[in-house]
Amino acid sequence: MLNPLSIVILAAGKGSRMKSPKAKVLHEICGREMLYYSIKAAREITDDVIVVVAHQRDAVIAAMERYFSDLTFITQDAENFPGTGGAMMGVKPKYDDVLVLNGDMPLIERTAIEKFLANPADIVMSVISLENPSGYGRVVIENDRVQRIVEEKDASASEKAIHTVNAGVYAFKHHVLQTYIPQLSNANAQGEYYLTDVIEMGRNDGLSISPLFVEEVEFKGVNSKNDLANAEMIMMDRLRRLWMDAGVIMQLPETIYLEEGVKFEGECVIENGVRLCGNTLIVNSHIKAHSVIEDSTITNSDVGPLAHLRPLSVLEDTHVGNFVEVKKSTLKGVKAGHLSYLGDATIGEGSNIGAGTITCNYDGVKKYQTIIGKNVFVGSDTQLVAPVEIADNVMIAAGTTVTAGKYESDILILSRTPIRKVAGFFTKFFGKGK
Ligand code: UD1
Ligand code: MG
Repeated sequence: MLNPLSIVILAAGKGSRMKSPKAKVLHEICGREMLYYSIKAAREITDDVIVVVAHQRDAVIAAMERYFSDLTFITQDAENFPGTGGAMMGVKPKYDDVLVLNGDMPLIERTAIEKFLANPADIVMSVISLENPSGYGRVVIENDRVQRIVEEKDASASEKAIHTVNAGVYAFKHHVLQTYIPQLSNANAQGEYYLTDVIEMGRNDGLSISPLFVEEVEFKGVNSKNDLANAEMIMMDRLRRLWMDAGVIMQLPETIYLEEGVKFEGECVIENGVRLCGNTLIVNSHIKAHSVIEDSTITNSDVGPLAHLRPLSVLEDTHVGNFVEVKKSTLKGVKAGHLSYLGDATIGEGSNIGAGTITCNYDGVKKYQTIIGKNVFVGSDTQLVAPVEIADNVMIAAGTTVTAGKYESDILILSRTPIRKVAGFFTKFFGKGK
């Protein structure tokens, strides 16, 4: 049994290398802010997760409270005490073992964190050997012992040549932090309080410092938009593998875009180029090529190719074909094969939606509902001007504009301009010989 531990996640920095008005830790990877992932890994291990915030504090807290309850947020005095060491100043961990993670490391997993705990040293620090170490703090090791960490901006030419870098995860005994954090100074190139200086202070006092060599892929920090895209590729690959292991069939999986909130049940087939977003649930369904599905629930249905299901669409035993857009609608036992917009609608079992059907759900001010009963045959090119309610067993003739109102069962609804035939018109218009 491992000792209980506290996990501190540093998420107060600006992330200026992201060149964005948005705080770095709020940039998304597979549909969730990158900070979500390190908190998720931390929560699998402990009840004491402390998140240090400052830059865009309220936005960061609000975003994380959507996913987690019982997190402890600490606000860094980033004005007077900037830097990762400044971030640790107000932290009061509950347990004696304290793991510190940077909030810009979304790829870290529980198993990687646990390796730090099996080690009894006063300080365990993560180390990676990188071909291109630029941007990272260099770890100076002499006689097999860690001496100190030098930030790139403070490093000499020979220190810059070191390829062993600090990956940004540390396990400390609480007393180590209590002793050294108040002693940190900001006499360095960035004028910041560096958490990394604790290593040299501890070494000078003879503490045991254990370097833990870790996998680059899990410990890579996201500092730029290139890093963000790379981290997303790795994360999405993990998600796709996870779901294929769970029984989902994916055709050309590397072309499928998948977010963290998407879930599958039963046997599902996902064709190439599909984009699945938000809290989508797909049960025993087939999603055909290049469809886009957001925050929807699809059961025993087939969708696409090239269909667009927007948030809050619910499909059950339904066929939705190409160029059909559905939004905030419930379709049960419905066929909508081609080229339609179905928004704010409820459509019952056995109903057929002809090509070119449009629910006119918006009058420029408000949105209105369209309710279609069972076994309704909606002819091609029908406009349903909401609010409209159609009872069961109704036929709507092709080309009809169904004006707002209620329509009873067992009727034909038809609005059609009578045909006019103008004899000889073609020849008159285009001339003889055509
Ligand atoms: C840090 C390490 C560096 C290491 C690298 C690994 C320090 C001084 N340097 O550098 O040795 O190689 O991580 O990725 O620790 N943060 C705060 N408050 C602040 C500043 C930063 O909470 O005042 C948070 C950030 O939100 C971020 C994390 O700390 O999540 C790391 O900050 P970042 O600016 O990315 O540090 P690096 O320069 O990458
Ligand atoms: Mg970083």
